[in-house]
Amino acid sequence: MSPTEGGEIRHERTGLVFRPGLEGVPATQSSICDIDGQKGLLSYRGYPVDVLASHCSFLETTYLLIWGELPNPQQLRDFEQEVQMHRRVSFRVRDMMKCFPSDGHPMDALQSSAASLGLFYSRRAIDDPQYIYDAVVRLIAKIPTMVAAFQLIRKGQDPIQPRDDLAYSANFLYMLMEREPDPLASRIFDRCLILHAEHSLNASTFSARVTASTLTDPYAVVASAVGTLAGPLHGGANEDVLAMLDEIGTADRAADYLDAAIASKRKVMGFGHREYRVKDPRAVILQALAEELFARFGHDEMYDVARALEAAAERRLGPKGIFPNVDFYSGLVYRKLGIPRDLFTPVFAIARVAGWLAHWREQLGANRIFRPSQIYTGCSMRQWSPLEDRLPSAST
Ligand code: SDX
Repeated sequence: MSPTEGGEIRHERTGLVFRPGLEGVPATQSSICDIDGQKGLLSYRGYPVDVLASHCSFLETTYLLIWGELPNPQQLRDFEQEVQMHRRVSFRVRDMMKCFPSDGHPMDALQSSAASLGLFYSRRAIDDPQYIYDAVVRLIAKIPTMVAAFQLIRKGQDPIQPRDDLAYSANFLYMLMEREPDPLASRIFDRCLILHAEHSLNASTFSARVTASTLTDPYAVVASAVGTLAGPLHGGANEDVLAMLDEIGTADRAADYLDAAIASKRKVMGFGHREYRVKDPRAVILQALAEELFARFGHDEMYDVARALEAAAERRLGPKGIFPNVDFYSGLVYRKLGIPRDLFTPVFAIARVAGWLAHWREQLGANRIFRPSQIYTGCSMRQWSPLEDRLPSAST
């Protein structure tokens, strides 16, 4: 084994090259999302994300991501209506959720609930366009209902039913908070969903594509992606950012916190990205959305801590290309909207289902099962010995 430049490892016998984390290794071709990490540009199907977030709804963006074109008014009305009709989840799913531990993490509840949909819609006809359409509608419609249902169930309450007169985002906030949301809050939440809907071959989308490539059902595809999104290096970071800001406490302590984190090689949550060498364009928009909310509903002192940390990080980490990512400001927006902290990542999942399903569909369009190679680093052939002759091994 010989290490080469950039952390690559070349296997001498086979000549294979291993790049940890598959950095810079294209694993698919895709026409869904493009990132220019040097310039900080992000587009879905060729449309800049800031334009979509300003002018479209989340469902309109979902349609674009999955079917490749923006819908016309009739197509959007039909899609919205179908999604609205499928928002309810079976009482059996709700009853199953009532058996979950109330102190379990909502991402685990979501992963289990998403997987359970495969039991109810067990026909697997992934070459049938109607099956694909129905699965898309069901997943987009039911994931928010399941997130809100677990929130009420764990508080010992019965979930409340979706309201047909409310649009997608307003209905989610209503099911979660049990009151009709302010229109500005709903619109800002909808924009957050657009910003989180897709991001090329991130870890959870890669996981979704690998699962899709086995031709399993879309509920398993989404469940595997939810499990991947949950980790603190990925979507789970949005929850950890607030814990970190809490720990820092006040803006004047941010620089010392950062110095200590760097000195002890701890990752600063909400910073850094494999693709971006500048501030994540989504973080720029989310920060503006947070400010819009503070202007309307009152300031949050945690924002001062976040800004002080960003300023200190710009000096210390900026030269290495480490800047705030999507998870840095999203939690401050969700907190102001009244969303509980451990629902931040499930909310990310509500949005990202759109991207996962777009990739599911694309994967099926030109499928070949993912089956990469490895570089074996274990023992060469060894002599087997009978049980009674074996000595305790050093590793146990
Ligand atoms: C998301 O991929 C996507 O698109 C994901 C996402 C999406 O929309 O799907 O954008 C959503 O997952 C955002 C990322 C959320 N995670 C965090 O905020 C956790 C903190 N960030 C990091 O752990 C890290 O930056 C990653 C996981 C995001 C990226 O990891 P990489 O590309 O493997 O980079 P690395 O860990 O190998 O770091 C490279 C260098 C190291 O320094 P050296 O050893 O070379 O000196 O940068 C340093 C790291 O120590 N570094 C950091 C840092 N991130 C990288 N140092 C301090 N704090 C950080 N946050």
